Amino acid sequence: MSELALFGGTPVRTEPFPVWPRPTSDLRDSLIKTLDSEGWGVGSKAIERFESAFADFQDAKYCISTSSGTTALWVALKAGGVKAGDEVIVPPYTFIATASAVLMANAIPVFADIDADTLNLDPEKIAAAITDKTKAIMPVHIAGGPADMDAILEIGKTHGIPIIEDAAQAHGAEWNGTKVGALGLGGIFSFQTSKNMTAGEGGAIISNDDDFMDACFSYHNCGRVKGGEWYEHSHLGGNFRLNAMAASMLFPQIESLQQDMEIRDKNAVMLDEAVQSINGIDRVKQENGTTRHAHHLYITKYDASAFNGIAREAFFKAMQAEGVYTYAGYTPLYREKLFITNADEYPWLKDRDYGSLSMPNTELIADEQAVWLKQNHLLGSEEDTKDIINAFEKVTDAMNKEPDLFLK
Ligand SMILES: Cc1ncc(COP(=O)(O)O)c(C=O)c1O
Repeated sequence: MSELALFGGTPVRTEPFPVWPRPTSDLRDSLIKTLDSEGWGVGSKAIERFESAFADFQDAKYCISTSSGTTALWVALKAGGVKAGDEVIVPPYTFIATASAVLMANAIPVFADIDADTLNLDPEKIAAAITDKTKAIMPVHIAGGPADMDAILEIGKTHGIPIIEDAAQAHGAEWNGTKVGALGLGGIFSFQTSKNMTAGEGGAIISNDDDFMDACFSYHNCGRVKGGEWYEHSHLGGNFRLNAMAASMLFPQIESLQQDMEIRDKNAVMLDEAVQSINGIDRVKQENGTTRHAHHLYITKYDASAFNGIAREAFFKAMQAEGVYTYAGYTPLYREKLFITNADEYPWLKDRDYGSLSMPNTELIADEQAVWLKQNHLLGSEEDTKDIINAFEKVTDAMNKEPDLFLK
């Protein structure tokens, strides 16, 4: 008789993992202070304070906060000079906004495959995707792990193409000792509710480039002119500003994120070591040059051939029954209906045949191998992390010893 919870055994755990988002007294105090005395929107001290502290934290000269990561992406692309009909190179293994922001800027997302070891954009695939229409390259630091920025910056330099980092998941991550986001022209962050820093919604753009940031200011603020009149508009922008309450909630999290990062680091090391020793489960590698991983999501790779061909979904079910929720995560973005059928709505996509794209590494990871744990699972105690490891070991052990239970 199997001891797996899926077949009636006792689950490894019944307790939930740490609650997220986390309403601390620091956030409450900060919110009340802004509510009572700092203004709620444009000109609020809370916004200035957050932008300046976040720029410092991320090793950048400037920060502009935005209403979301998606609006930050659109603003950054526009400010980076992307125009109608231009091409922007993006990975297909990411959240939809990375590519849909390109469409929203009237430009064309060009997908380049990822590296199956690191899940980040493969620089060789980027180089092969460049055309004379390529006006930006947008690496995503997936799950908080920096993309290969040395190689990507070099490609950008060789071809005169700006690099805009999608660091939506990578608060605090570092490349060669410098925090990500302003390694190229600029980069964006998200503070949506699942992120490692959150105000429910929100985003930010950081950069060291004055002209780029002046353009970001305009696009994110109704096309206004930096230092100009209130009713003076130079660009087609929108109101994509962050509100002061969100900024006041984010400010104390710059500090708490750093404590969280230490917990995440410790738990990720424990998990990496444990999954490495299970035949058929593999850890995702970090690019050389990563000096700090943000450990937003924890992703491992499942190889069904090591488990008698048992599909990943059966593994998920068994893990869930043990009280540890694992799931598949992203699907290849080029399969999304929005890219395939909407050429009438987006005429600049008319000649693009996303539907026939096939990128082997993205498909291997998305369709077969990726096993995701949500970010709050990395915030637990050592005991919590041991439970995750016990569940991995219990389930994979049973799949080896009792494959018929899963295959029937
Ligand atoms: C990689 C990536 N890019 C962009 C976004 C968009 O951010 P938001 O949800 O704040 O618009 C997200 C998160 O949701 C993301 O994970």
